[in-house]
Amino acid sequence: MIKVATSILSADYIKLGEEIRSVESADYLHFDVMDGVFVPNLSIGIPVLESVRKFTKMTLDVHLMITSPSRLIKAFANAGADIIVFHVEAETHENICTSIDMIHALGKKAGLSIKPATKVSALEPYIDNLDIALIMTVEPGYGGQAFIPETLPKISQLRDLITERKSNCEIQVDGGINLETASLCISAGANVLVAGSDIFGKADRAARIAQLRNEALRS
Ligand code: DX5
Ligand code: ZN
Repeated sequence: MIKVATSILSADYIKLGEEIRSVESADYLHFDVMDGVFVPNLSIGIPVLESVRKFTKMTLDVHLMITSPSRLIKAFANAGADIIVFHVEAETHENICTSIDMIHALGKKAGLSIKPATKVSALEPYIDNLDIALIMTVEPGYGGQAFIPETLPKISQLRDLITERKSNCEIQVDGGINLETASLCISAGANVLVAGSDIFGKADRAARIAQLRNEALRS
């Protein structure tokens, strides 16, 4: 089944509650955390997540674009994350293993992400323990960027790896997703579409979420 995750990075934070209500038909609410070090930009963090958790029953998909994420796994789990995804480039092998175990021990789903320049092989040692693998289809840090087509073969490679390992790991794609690129990503093997500007840029967000899912049916 194809899922849509709406990224609130593109929301209007003055009316965040209203914005979240407008995308509640999505499968996940994607929550982008940036520290100004791992990526050049800063975004939202734990206090906002706590408020969002109280406001909605949506599955909260937290994407950590921060250095040494293992330090904050417990805090994000306690703040209400259902899914915690962090970057393979941001941690040591040992800390990646302990973080995945910690996320599971806290009753949450664990994901690992790779930037456009990072090879799929970087995910290989962890794949059997992951619920989600996230392929960045833009450089992490900003919404509204153009999709990088060179990331498509990585999605296919990851799909092959997941099939070979008989894993149920979801493949998320994030960055520059619209109807056209969604179709390319699904054909390559992705099953969770993260989209921010393409959904929040529309007056009827629910209709756009449905269109993204229907695009999946056509692929
Ligand atoms: C970028 C973030 C994305 C971002 C996607 O670093 O991880 O989740 O919100 O935005 P769009 O869909 O506008 O490319
Ligand atoms: Zn993201």
